[in-house]
Parts: sequence; C-alpha cells; structure tokens
Amino acid sequence: LASAPPLALAEKYFQLRPDELNPLWGNPCDDIRHRRIWSKSKWCGTLPRVLVVGPQKTGSTALYTFLGMHPALAANLPSPSTYEELQFFNNNNYLKGLDWYLNFFPPSLANSSQITFEKSATYFDGDLVPRRAHALLPNAKIIIILISPSKRAYSWYQHIRSHGDLVANNHSFHAVITANDSAPKPLRDLRNRCLNPGKYSHYLERWLAEFGGHQLHIIDGSLLRTDPASVMNTLQKFLKLSPHVDYNKMLKYDAKKGFYCQAVSNERTKCLGKSKGRVYPQMDEQSAKFLRRYYTPHNTALSKLLVRLGRPVPQWLKDELSANG
Ligand code: A3P
Repeated sequence: LASAPPLALAEKYFQLRPDELNPLWGNPCDDIRHRRIWSKSKWCGTLPRVLVVGPQKTGSTALYTFLGMHPALAANLPSPSTYEELQFFNNNNYLKGLDWYLNFFPPSLANSSQITFEKSATYFDGDLVPRRAHALLPNAKIIIILISPSKRAYSWYQHIRSHGDLVANNHSFHAVITANDSAPKPLRDLRNRCLNPGKYSHYLERWLAEFGGHQLHIIDGSLLRTDPASVMNTLQKFLKLSPHVDYNKMLKYDAKKGFYCQAVSNERTKCLGKSKGRVYPQMDEQSAKFLRRYYTPHNTALSKLLVRLGRPVPQWLKDELSANG
C-alpha cells in the first residue's frame, strides 16, 4: 500500500475523477450519516424553499419586494456586496461553500410558520445554476418572470448605460444588438448580455432537466407590472401560503412613479428606487423590427413549451408572434 503527501494525493485523485473537480453541494440534513457528523452549531432548516431566478430586468425586484410583504415569507439577510441578491449558485460565491450561503439564512431569520426565499435574477441563465440549485434544494419552488425579450434587452441596455458603461454610451442600442462576431469583445459581450437571457425556451428547458414542471411557476412580467395583486394572489396559491393575504389592499398604483408600490397609508406609498422603472426614450422601430425577427424562433419554441406544460401563453408573446407572422 503506497500513499503520497496530501497535495500530490489530491492531484492524483482529481486526475482519476475529473468530474469531481467542480463541487456540487448537497444538503447535509438530507442524509442522516452527514447530519450525524455535522457540527451541532450548524443548521439547515432555514434553507430557502423558494427561489426567484429572474431573468434580470423582468420585474424581479418588484416581485422580491412584494414577496417580502407576505407574513409567511422571510427573505435572506442582505449580502454586503450584492444587497438582496446572494448570487450563490451562479458564480464564485458557490466555491465559498455551503457555510457561506447558510450564514444568510440564520435560524433567527424565520419563525416556525415562515418559509424562506431567495431572489437572484442572474440565476435564470446561469450555466450551472439549475444543477447546483437542484443538488442543494431538490424540493424548491422556482419562480421565473418573463416579459417581451425585446423589451428586456432594451431595459438591460438602458440599465448598463445609466451605470456609465462606456460601450453602451458610445454605441446606439441598434449598433449593440446588431454587432457581428468580428466586433470588439466588449461590444460582443454587451450584445450577448442584451440578447441571450431572452432565449427563454432554451433556459427553461435547462431548469426542466433538473426540476419537475410542477415546481416551476412562470409569471407574466407585463401582468406583474399592470396587475401585481392578481399575480401575487396566484403565486400565494402556488406556494400554498397561509394566511392568504389581499395584495389589492397592500399595493397601490402611484401615478407619479407610473407603477404599483407598497401602500404605506391611505395617502402614502413606498415605491422602488429610481433605477427600477427608469424613464428612457422608446425603442427605435429599426431595432424593434430586428428583435422581432431575431426572437421569432425562440418565442415560437417558448409558446410550444408553455402549451406542453399546460401554462397560459402571455398576451405579449401572442402579440410578438402575430406581429411577425
Ligand atoms: P425598467 O427600469 O426598464 O422600466 P428588475 O428588478 O428585474 O431589474 O426589473 C426592473 C424592471 O421592473 C423595470 O424596468 C420595470 O419596468 C419593472 N417593474 C415591474 N413592476 C415594477 C414596479 N412595481 N416598480 C418598478 N419597476 C417595476
């Protein structure tokens, strides 16, 4: 029997098992043998049972805020760098390990009648996210918000532009979305961030490869904007939340903001900040036409997928498909 120093041994091990180079965290509490050897000071009862996965610019902050108003739900503690979003499953935070994630869900976070949830809008189109999320939270409910992918792309461009991004400020939206593969990398990167997350059916299939269809709840993001109370009522039923609260009383349209906001009192509302519901010019017709054509195969696939899942086809999707048909 031969052995080697730890590092050499590890190298040898990973040569033999390259598939294990990337860790995949499971829930220690799901296996009695792991639980027995886990420290007494650790916990896992407050791990989230609901994940709002985005994509970005679809109204995910509004949904997060509305969920946070529900007495049966508790959100994670905020991250010092990414605020309410932990962005655990989609980037290097994952390599910080389960303890890192658990620290945002301390036992004191929720009382016994509350369930915890997390929202990170970058999860939707993260390559490894569905697999990682399923390994840790196999019974989680996954919430996805979909708006017109063209509008999402434009909202993302405006978002990046208002953050002072030079590429977005030096190129029109049309120049960004039509950039070809020989364009400079920063321009191609921005094009990809505008366009790719809107290929909804592609990413949905990836989630469905890990989670059962019954675990996925798809929200029409344009309805979330115009009638959030009805969206929240349906969502409460899906999550089987008790008590069932009336969001018609908790949300109020704020004419100045142009969106629904939290009703603080009869006169006062609390709206999301300036960066949510930005004011910017309408998309130019040339870009709208380009995007309608660009997204047609993706939207067609999405429509088929929703029918297959027995879900309603949102009005925006019907409109986009008929505008091109
Ligand atoms: P715009 O700023 O482009 O209008 P996210 O939170 O995922 O980044 O999404 C931001 C988008 O949420 C906003 O995009 C806005 O249209 C939409 N939204 C939906 N409901 C909202 C609400 N009640 N208040 C503010 N923005 C809302």
